Amino acid sequence: SITFNKPPSVAFLTGQFTAENVIKKVTRSGDLSGVFHDIAAWQAIPSDTPIYEVEMLNSLQGEGELYVGMTHLHPGRVGNEFHMTRGHFHQRREQGEVYFGIRGSGLLLLQNEHRKAWLEHVSPGSVHIIPGDTAHRLINTGSEVLSALAVWPSIAGHDYGSLAQGFAARVVLQDGKIQAKEVQNG
Ligand code: 6PG
Ligand code: NI
Repeated sequence: SITFNKPPSVAFLTGQFTAENVIKKVTRSGDLSGVFHDIAAWQAIPSDTPIYEVEMLNSLQGEGELYVGMTHLHPGRVGNEFHMTRGHFHQRREQGEVYFGIRGSGLLLLQNEHRKAWLEHVSPGSVHIIPGDTAHRLINTGSEVLSALAVWPSIAGHDYGSLAQGFAARVVLQDGKIQAKEVQNG
């Protein structure tokens, strides 16, 4: 006989998942060594301060399977630089990903293997198609939590090491304005 499965759901206003098994990973200030430009400002923040949380639905793993995760990035700055995720290439470089803006406002910083960087505005309803071979980082430039839904191949993995020298752009508050700066090294 045909069964009806109860799917998980997401509350579009808050990005909260309703599901039986949600795995949650908290990234705190102390985990983000080397990420923010202003080291003194970063050191002044208690290392247990949560910066972002990623909640993942329970799904199958393996070639052809997909992961679904929600990133909740708290508003704030370290010095003049807006809160952001660590950012990564996928370990399987050629694997892409899709992000959907759910709540808050911010930017998606993208960068190819030649260090060419570009930005997309993230807002409720925005759809971001991240091509393969493209590093990605969320930046919260707003005053509320930035929540973005992501769907990516379970085989993609993460490569953080290749960005040890940082992205080619930083987003800061300068003269009361949100500004993107090109940087040579970190
Ligand atoms: C992924 C997604 C996404 C990402 C989080 C946290 O490939 O898993 O891009 O879930 O991991 O937004 O960002 P960092 O992994 O860069 O800390
Ligand atoms: Ni990714």
